[in-house]
Amino acid sequence: QCDSLAELARALTSCVNCDLWRHATQAVPGEGAEGARLVFVGEQPGDEEDLSGRPFVGRAGRLLDTAFERAGIERADCYVTNAVKHFRFEPRGKRRIHKKPGAREIAACNGWLARELELVRPRLVVALGASAATALLGRATALKDVRGQTLTLANGLKMRATVHPSFLLRLTDEASKRREWRIFLADLREVAAFVEA
Ligand code: URA
Repeated sequence: QCDSLAELARALTSCVNCDLWRHATQAVPGEGAEGARLVFVGEQPGDEEDLSGRPFVGRAGRLLDTAFERAGIERADCYVTNAVKHFRFEPRGKRRIHKKPGAREIAACNGWLARELELVRPRLVVALGASAATALLGRATALKDVRGQTLTLANGLKMRATVHPSFLLRLTDEASKRREWRIFLADLREVAAFVEA
């Protein structure tokens, strides 16, 4: 058992709980303060996160930063992590194409996430997308079934769920982009209000 987030990050470097370590560059631990009031959980590191070793530094991360700013959430108040700590991908020529983690990878990584939550003890955990909600709830979860609700996890922590920023990046028509961005910001404002209350 790790006694601090720094220790956990060190221990993660030698994780072989599933096979993802074989092809990933490195495990990517969460980032943020031990006393953070909010924990955001994404899915898994992407290409840039895998290379840099830091969560949410690529396109999705930059969009998340913008959303934080717009919703009045301070990054310093957050611990940002992922349900799965190694990048799962399929090589295609020189490119590495993101591949959704399966139930096996999520389960193999769950001990790390559980320990991060114990160490941070936030006021609220926010699942970004269905993989994070699945990891946190310990059962296959569709986002539409949990979005907009405040749930209590088995460890006693409160959880809310919203879309993953990558979902917004994948939308192609302008009207849906604008609509989904507005709903995402509204979700984050509710999150901000929840921790202020
Ligand atoms: N997407 C995620 O879910 N996590 C990251 O760290 C980056 C992109």
